[in-house]
Amino acid sequence: EGANAAVDTNNKGDAWVSQMQRPRRNRKSAGVRSMVRENFLTPANLMQPIFIHEDSDQVVPIPSMPGQSRHTLDSMVEQVKKGMALGVKSFILFPKVPDDLKTNFADECYNPDGIVPRAVAMCKAACPEATICTDIALDPYSDQGHDGIVLDGKIVNDMTIEQLCKQAVCHARAGADFVGPSDMMDGRVGALRMALDAEGHTDVGIISYSAKYASAFYGPFRDALDSHPGFGDKKTYQQDPANGREAIIEATLDAAEGADMLMVKPGVPYLDVIRRIRDVVDLPIAAYHVSGEYAMIKAGAEKGWVDEKAIVLETLMCFRRAGADVILTYYATDAAQWMNDEGNVCL
Ligand code: PBG
Repeated sequence: EGANAAVDTNNKGDAWVSQMQRPRRNRKSAGVRSMVRENFLTPANLMQPIFIHEDSDQVVPIPSMPGQSRHTLDSMVEQVKKGMALGVKSFILFPKVPDDLKTNFADECYNPDGIVPRAVAMCKAACPEATICTDIALDPYSDQGHDGIVLDGKIVNDMTIEQLCKQAVCHARAGADFVGPSDMMDGRVGALRMALDAEGHTDVGIISYSAKYASAFYGPFRDALDSHPGFGDKKTYQQDPANGREAIIEATLDAAEGADMLMVKPGVPYLDVIRRIRDVVDLPIAAYHVSGEYAMIKAGAEKGWVDEKAIVLETLMCFRRAGADVILTYYATDAAQWMNDEGNVCL
């Protein structure tokens, strides 16, 4: 009759409900939970986007993305060093380009003296072990605010690819480790691979934004870069949020054209797309936890309505569970800091 004696009635005198399967047994303590944990998150899974500008020598906060700023090239280098110290090892650069350098053909995008190639070179000089990625698309440099060249009100596919190839080669020459085409033109991955290889940049990888949706979640990013579409929307090149199978078409094409990683964007509303691609392609998958998702968590946290740290770490883990290897998130450095604070850099 001791406390541990086997009993066949509960404390109301009723029989225990008889069940063989009690999944709670595998959750009964932190030790057991950690033994059966299926997925892990480490700072090395996270890629930190960094906005850069040269409009002034000030670090300029972005109102719709509290905690994020347009960095000077010097403060960008500090951001890279800070991330590296916390175990975040990859970074992707996004430039804000002054209006007077924007044209329809976006020729500034392959200026070897432009902001991005200089920024890449500075990052690699300061932190050679950091993985530096660049975004390939015309929109920051386009006076039309579109990812491609506009002729007769249409975004022209193949002519745009010519520019994207020059942009990618320019970034590769500057030392970029990966280029990330975010433009959604047809055939650009294969064209970029050939253009890079033709110059011997066989080590420069392509992280293709494979399944990139025409999304309202990019709003704060467009504020950050002053890159809102000049007319219309991006629905003739970015995907319809209603479509899932279409993402498989894009992903398999990009894989066949030589992509090294496939990206899904936005993040949380598209976890099913990550999983669907994971099930059919074996390349690493990157998920982009985009600006609007960041802004919503920040807003909820500022109001005191949600626990920012807990929500962010849960969200990032959910990307891993869905099948993402890499997560691009504005929270990368903060999340790594939180993981380090807990003395547990592998959640
Ligand atoms: C540019 C680009 C965009 C984002 C990444 N690259 C914006 C867009 O396509 O309009 C959005 C990222 C974010 O919202 O965090 N092609």
